[in-house]
Amino acid sequence: MREPVKIVVGITGGSGAVYALALLRQLRILECETHLVVSRMGAYVMDHECGVSLEELRTFADRFYEDDDLAAPISGGSFRTFGMAVVPCSMKTLASIAGGFSESLLTRAADVTLKERRRLVLVTRESPLSVIHLENMLAATRAGAVVMPASPGFYHRPESVAEMVVSFSGRILDALGVEHNLTRRWEGAGTQ
Ligand SMILES: Cc1cc2nc3c(=O)[nH]c(=O)nc-3n(C[C@H](O)[C@H](O)[C@H](O)COP(=O)(O)O)c2cc1C
Repeated sequence: MREPVKIVVGITGGSGAVYALALLRQLRILECETHLVVSRMGAYVMDHECGVSLEELRTFADRFYEDDDLAAPISGGSFRTFGMAVVPCSMKTLASIAGGFSESLLTRAADVTLKERRRLVLVTRESPLSVIHLENMLAATRAGAVVMPASPGFYHRPESVAEMVVSFSGRILDALGVEHNLTRRWEGAGTQ
């Protein structure tokens, strides 16, 4: 039997928790095995922005880990995963990942993803950006991460925020390298 594609999803306290919900829903449709870790502020912002409690959030994933559980499987490179997305990724977590400072399970799992040369997608959210933020983005990119600011496109003329969110989370799947056909793709102006 085919092994399920294991994806680690980290949720931090940046704005845009709704992207994480959309991604987890899409990964479930695609029958990927999701491993979820949520920072303390990630849980706070999720509840604040989406009204989804940590109790409910954990049901969106196949496996859930506490952020201080540094002995969890995703803390080690021998636990084989396909990749990891940090959605949304706060500037604090970006700094931790760019500096290799792995004091939480979420940042350790990201560090492991980089060292194992697997796909790490950081859906960063801040505006405007300081030199520190930009330098950390560059450092993370040089280390192999894909830095993907939470910046949805408008070229499909979305009619709702939900449509924008779903289509952007389809782009996160693309960045992760997970094959899907869940969202519309640009095929030239004539087809729109
Ligand atoms: C409602 C709310 C929205 C926030 N939005 C952002 C944001 O967009 N980007 C960011 O870097 N931090 C944001 N913060 C601040 C982070 O939550 C804070 O820096 C926190 O320490 C991040 O910790 P974490 O990365 O461990 O989740 C926000 C905080 C709150 C309460």
